[in-house]
Amino acid sequence: MHLLPALPFSSTARAKLAVIVKTESILPVKSLSGTVEVPGDKSISHRYAMLAALADGTSELRNFAAARDCHSTLGCIKALGAGVEISDATIRVTGHGLRGLQSSWRTLDAENSGTTIRLLSGILSGQSFTTKITGDASLQKRPMKRVMTPLRDMGANIRARDENFPPLEIRGGRLRAVHYQTPMASAQVKSAVLLAGLYADGETSVTEPAATRDHTELALQEFGATVRKSGRTISIEPNPALHPVSLDVPGDLSSAVFLIAAASLFPDSNLFIANVGLNPTRSAILDFLNQMGASITVLNLQTKGGEVVGDLSVKGAQLRGGMISGNLVPLLIDELPMLAALGPYTEQGIEIRDAGELRVKESDRIAALAENLKRLGAKVEESPDGLRVEGRSAGRLRAAEIDPRGDHRIAMAFAVAGLGAFGETRILDADCAAVSYPSFFSELRRLTAA
Ligand code: S3P
Repeated sequence: MHLLPALPFSSTARAKLAVIVKTESILPVKSLSGTVEVPGDKSISHRYAMLAALADGTSELRNFAAARDCHSTLGCIKALGAGVEISDATIRVTGHGLRGLQSSWRTLDAENSGTTIRLLSGILSGQSFTTKITGDASLQKRPMKRVMTPLRDMGANIRARDENFPPLEIRGGRLRAVHYQTPMASAQVKSAVLLAGLYADGETSVTEPAATRDHTELALQEFGATVRKSGRTISIEPNPALHPVSLDVPGDLSSAVFLIAAASLFPDSNLFIANVGLNPTRSAILDFLNQMGASITVLNLQTKGGEVVGDLSVKGAQLRGGMISGNLVPLLIDELPMLAALGPYTEQGIEIRDAGELRVKESDRIAALAENLKRLGAKVEESPDGLRVEGRSAGRLRAAEIDPRGDHRIAMAFAVAGLGAFGETRILDADCAAVSYPSFFSELRRLTAA
């Protein structure tokens, strides 16, 4: 793949150019208003693409995530023999049935996407061939043992660097049905086991310690699999004949949250976000923000393809702050960076506990949040499993240079924090936002008024 057009530079100069990254400048604004649609949900897009590759025929997936992560999934399923046609946000995936994947001669590249590598590990464990899969420098530091353990219990043969990290070599084969109790609340682990369960010799079930997003369960049903739920246990019957689907992916609430937070900061804001996914395993953030004093109204609620969808109207508000711990953590896991970065704008501050998982995300998010909040002049105390950010009484933020550590959610959270800071905040390596929301900075510019 050519990263750069042919330019009259020496190869060293071109290599240097290839690492030039974009800095975004954030200036104080007075409000955030207008209408916006956020890109299709990342979690749902991954699942629809993978299941479409296992269905017999062509699925049409509309409003598919623009997120780079989901395009990493498309690259992987294509390498495994699925047909993939991309026409803007409409994706057509042609699968050849549950046993129709082919071995890939090259190592699959999940790039920055934990969901791609962990969910595909479940599917690859049931294949009659061996697959190697890896990712970028960040993904190569993320733990895979959490999926390797149950998949090995099912009979898969998986090798990993240092028994925990990508690259993974997955030798698939006949799988045993298991009942797996996940030690941590992780939708990715639950999903890897359920997807492997498609290939098992009986009913596979997973019990989770706390509820996590249920898109895999809903998507499996849309494609024709039989999934049962009883309390925190989810079971799947093996060997379904998956059929192709024609589905719309709802907008990604976890992306919308950055705009919701930005609008909430300014009294004159008036933001309308159309067509957002409001699945109850994802929408705890709206309840939490409203409890904090935010003004978010849900309109036009409906269910499409098993997923709840609606519109949101957001006005400016005085935010009180609050604490996130225990079973709330998995329900807010991707929103914690934004909540922490809102801390200095709240009356009582924000405290996050029981969230050690944040240290093994796309970056060590606790460290990245603490460091960048301090750069802005916030008062922060970091702990092994969370952080406490002082509220408004600690003083107004002063603009600074932000290092998002290549993490999309850190870049976007601090772009929002910068909107209310004094001076020009510079977000280094801002392009990393494309991992989930490629048009984030242009939308932010369009919606803000100085
Ligand atoms: C995801 C699950 C969560 C979340 C991630 C997407 C998914 O990860 O943080 O962004 O699509 O299943 P964990 O399962 O590691 O909590």
